[in-house]
Amino acid sequence: MKKQKVSVIGAGNVGATTAQLLAMGGLCDVVLFDIVDGMPQGKALDIAEACPLWNSSATVIGTNDYGAINGSDVIVVTAGMARKPGMSRDDLLKINAGIISGAAAEILKHAPSSVVIVVTNPMDVMAHLVLKATGFNSNRVMGMGGVLDAARFCSFVAAELKISPEVISSMLMGGHGDQMVPLPRFTTIRGIPVTELLSKEKIDAIVERTRNGGAEIVALLKTGSAYYAPAASIYEMVKSILLNELKVLPVSCCLEGQYGVDHVYAGVPAVLGKNGVESIIEVTLNEAEKSAFMKSVNAVKSLVESIT
Ligand code: APR
Repeated sequence: MKKQKVSVIGAGNVGATTAQLLAMGGLCDVVLFDIVDGMPQGKALDIAEACPLWNSSATVIGTNDYGAINGSDVIVVTAGMARKPGMSRDDLLKINAGIISGAAAEILKHAPSSVVIVVTNPMDVMAHLVLKATGFNSNRVMGMGGVLDAARFCSFVAAELKISPEVISSMLMGGHGDQMVPLPRFTTIRGIPVTELLSKEKIDAIVERTRNGGAEIVALLKTGSAYYAPAASIYEMVKSILLNELKVLPVSCCLEGQYGVDHVYAGVPAVLGKNGVESIIEVTLNEAEKSAFMKSVNAVKSLVESIT
């Protein structure tokens, strides 16, 4: 049976680590694209040479030719400039908008049936640009951010409670990082609400650390930004799509009336399957959550307006 195909646009830290996880998982063939001559080819060859050790039959190809993404089932867009210390995600807006619009035109040309996961920051805005430039149905263009924020939140809760992160399930909404809307009442430890096990002060501190999770790593690395947890988050989303797992994940989706929002990307609980976003789950937010969510929606809206 023909394996499914996933193409990763941008072979930097996040893109190459994603390609590595996909090849290790053996679920699909992998194409790694970048504009830098030789770099995606070198990284792809290195990953391909590891496949025998992972018992993976994935083929991994590196390329500077967009033709190689032809017929991809899923495309992951990580092309762009990474955030430097002291630089906000929004500083990257104009540079990355140009890069993403170019990539979207190539996706439309070579992989018109694909599901696209946008990772390049500011991710909600970039997803909007991809949707516009490809003209795809909105279920086929989504952004990655919430899965990463939720994973960060779970890892900090696990460390605080000295328990395995595996038993923690968490949901959050809104924008990625600073604009995130935390929902501690939906974080559970094998069904036990975290609010039963940690004080408000402890939870607030964990929420704050999660909001700044990306910046904390940027400050430590000094050059570049996080990539291991981002790539693991992308892998979780791609797997749910390729295997039609129908996992409920925090995903940046184009809202079409849900939560009273029209045609703006925001992080919401969504079901991911073979068609991309299969459905969006609407939960009842309290007043404080609603106002934080609308703040993040309006921030995305005004960034989109500033570049379109
Ligand atoms: N087409 C394809 N690739 C491009 C283009 C382009 N037009 N322009 C730049 N790139 C490539 C760069 O050559 C580089 O290899 O995108 C890659 C980006 O990689 P890194 O700089 O290592 O950035 P990374 O850490 O992978 O982050 C990528 O994901 O999490 C977000 O904020 C992060 O927006 C950033 C993105």
